[in-house]
Amino acid sequence: MTDRPNIPFNRASLAGRELAYMRQALERGHISGDGEFSKRCHALLERETGAGKALLTTSCTHALEMAALLLGLAPGDEVVVPSFAFVTTANAFVLRGARPAFVDIRPDTLNMDETRLEAALNDRTRAVVALHYAGVGCAMDAIMDVASRRRGLAVVEDNAHGLFGRYQGRQLGTFGAMAALSFHETKNFTCGEGGALLLNDPALFERAEILREKGTNRSRFFRGQVDKYTWVDLGSSYLPSDLLAAFLLAQLEEAATIQARRRSIWLRYFERLSPWAERAGARLPVVPAGCESAFHLFHVLLPSPEKRDALMNGLKERGILAVFHYLPLHLSPMGRSWGYRKGDFPVSEDISGRLLRLPFYNSLESADQERICGEIEDLTRSW
Ligand SMILES: Cc1ncc(COP(=O)(O)O)c(C=O)c1O
Repeated sequence: MTDRPNIPFNRASLAGRELAYMRQALERGHISGDGEFSKRCHALLERETGAGKALLTTSCTHALEMAALLLGLAPGDEVVVPSFAFVTTANAFVLRGARPAFVDIRPDTLNMDETRLEAALNDRTRAVVALHYAGVGCAMDAIMDVASRRRGLAVVEDNAHGLFGRYQGRQLGTFGAMAALSFHETKNFTCGEGGALLLNDPALFERAEILREKGTNRSRFFRGQVDKYTWVDLGSSYLPSDLLAAFLLAQLEEAATIQARRRSIWLRYFERLSPWAERAGARLPVVPAGCESAFHLFHVLLPSPEKRDALMNGLKERGILAVFHYLPLHLSPMGRSWGYRKGDFPVSEDISGRLLRLPFYNSLESADQERICGEIEDLTRSW
């Protein structure tokens, strides 16, 4: 045990004008969805990413659910998803009756292995979900080629980690027909719980507004394009309060500062832990040429699951919270219900047992980072 303060895995912090903007929203008397601050978030996201349209949602999960609705999925359809992914990366499509067709990941970036994509496609495939793990882009040229250009399939980017990351110079989230963003507390930019759907295919814009507004054409009504609004399609309520948008806008306006800060935290871990990794047989993150990371998280791959667990528990005893990440979806009870078994996706299975995420948040102090690295060295001295 230690008498030093604990270092959490994540800590939300203010970037600047969050509270002032929330007060302004209240003073304006508009705190339901799509007020002034939501509109400013939409404009900022469209301007900074180059996406055709941005719509705030109550979570990334809800943005993915909107994507699934927009795809018009029906029972029997298949959606290709990496097994090493968040539950809702698959569940959003399963909710619409689709079957997840899992694929394995690459051992370097931990993103979908694009060389295995072709084999996962069949006549029932309707879409491919590309998750940019840790904010490092998938091989989007190959994925778009196999899925979109050659087969005409929709590509949905799960860009929960990757806002402002780039692949071949282009912003993540602007390759597929749609991309989902997360503004959950753990993300680079947050409003506690939140997300956004980026739309790159203009044919989807109007229907997306309708699905997000309970299946009504209310957005057209507010723009004066119809004189009454009514129920025109499926839908739900996916728009966040303008109070949350006010908080989020303040964070997004500080994107350059936040990203520079996260980059320096990431680089400090990388430089400080490189000699240790070599000695301990651990592996640090890989960012291939052509990828600019969004610096969402910093992970290490330990030599074995036993060593990962020992290090994770040792750090915890010393007041430092480092955490594992996704359990392979194909081995979850839901995954097994489609007949998937151990051994189906060996890279996902292997990585999941050996991965450890280190504390990473905008206000992480260099002294705390030094303490984390020192404890890692100390706990693994006998390896
Ligand atoms: C890749 C990925 N997609 C989606 C989500 C869900 O995000 P949210 O909590 O905003 O629904 C997460 C959560 O961390 C995630 O890691």
